[in-house]
Amino acid sequence: MLRIEQLTKTFGRNTAVDAATVAVDKPMMIGIIGRSGAGKSTLLRMLNRLTDHTSGRVSCEGREVTALRGAEKRAWQADCAMIFQQFNLVPRMDVVSNVLHGTLNRRSTLATLFNLFPAADIHRAIDILDRLGIAEHAPKRAEALSGGQQQRVAIARALMQDPKIILADEPIASLDPMNAQIVMDALRRIHEEDGRTVIANLHTLDTARRYCDRVIGMLHGRIVFDGTPEQLTTGVARDIYGADAGFSEAATSTAIEPVETAPERAVHGAKAIV
Ligand SMILES: Nc1ncnc2c1ncn2[C@@H]1O[C@H](COP(=O)(O)OP(=O)(O)OP(=O)(O)O)[C@@H](O)[C@H]1O
Ligand SMILES: [Mg+2]
Repeated sequence: MLRIEQLTKTFGRNTAVDAATVAVDKPMMIGIIGRSGAGKSTLLRMLNRLTDHTSGRVSCEGREVTALRGAEKRAWQADCAMIFQQFNLVPRMDVVSNVLHGTLNRRSTLATLFNLFPAADIHRAIDILDRLGIAEHAPKRAEALSGGQQQRVAIARALMQDPKIILADEPIASLDPMNAQIVMDALRRIHEEDGRTVIANLHTLDTARRYCDRVIGMLHGRIVFDGTPEQLTTGVARDIYGADAGFSEAATSTAIEPVETAPERAVHGAKAIV
């Protein structure tokens, strides 16, 4: 499905991502973990073509993503929607219009200028908001919502593009634990029910273990671990975060829990809001 081969990005003399190779053969939920500066965001941004790569390639279902230009590149960016830590909504615009902006790449300039949306798109936007448990907020300005609600609006905007892949760069880093759980539950549900692949950069090991089928660990731009949450032992975590890091980067006290006591994956007991 998705193949990342020897993907490399250098900024001057700094190698941000160093020959990353990953094959995703079926829809799954993947967590990328690693210390600050490990290259997680750069990797996601190259997948979405927000950042140009230096060498290597990305391909998806036979298409060479790293070679796409113009309209084809924009179509790919719709196919792999991106969600950010800071939501990136238009704060003064109402929620439903923010969601409808997920359709911008297939609307005319004139329609965009006058904020004209087809009724079918508006209904779809409301349905998606409803699925995410926030339809009642549709007419409100985005800035009037809590962080967790805003991130769900950002997810709704991504879903408007009907993407095959959702890339999430630290989607819960700005949220309190309860909202973080709601947002991660939403992403997991979207993966399970829609069969979309979700690739999320996550700051805590605990979240990666709870929600992901597969965890990729990065260190100094290189992929140093690629396996299941069960294979992510304390020793491996130590390698990813560095022996002298004291696991402070992991940001949770449960980060070094032995795998045997790791919480059951949320899939089995999630309080679903989607
Ligand atoms: N636009 C840029 N120009 C120059 N260097 C950059 C740029 N973007 C990232 N880097 C460098 O590339 C490396 C990887 O950065 P990246 O943002 O991908 O790390 P990260 O794992 O996402 O970190 P964090 O957990 O802090 O978000 C870092 O050394 C960073 O300074
Ligand atoms: Mg980052």
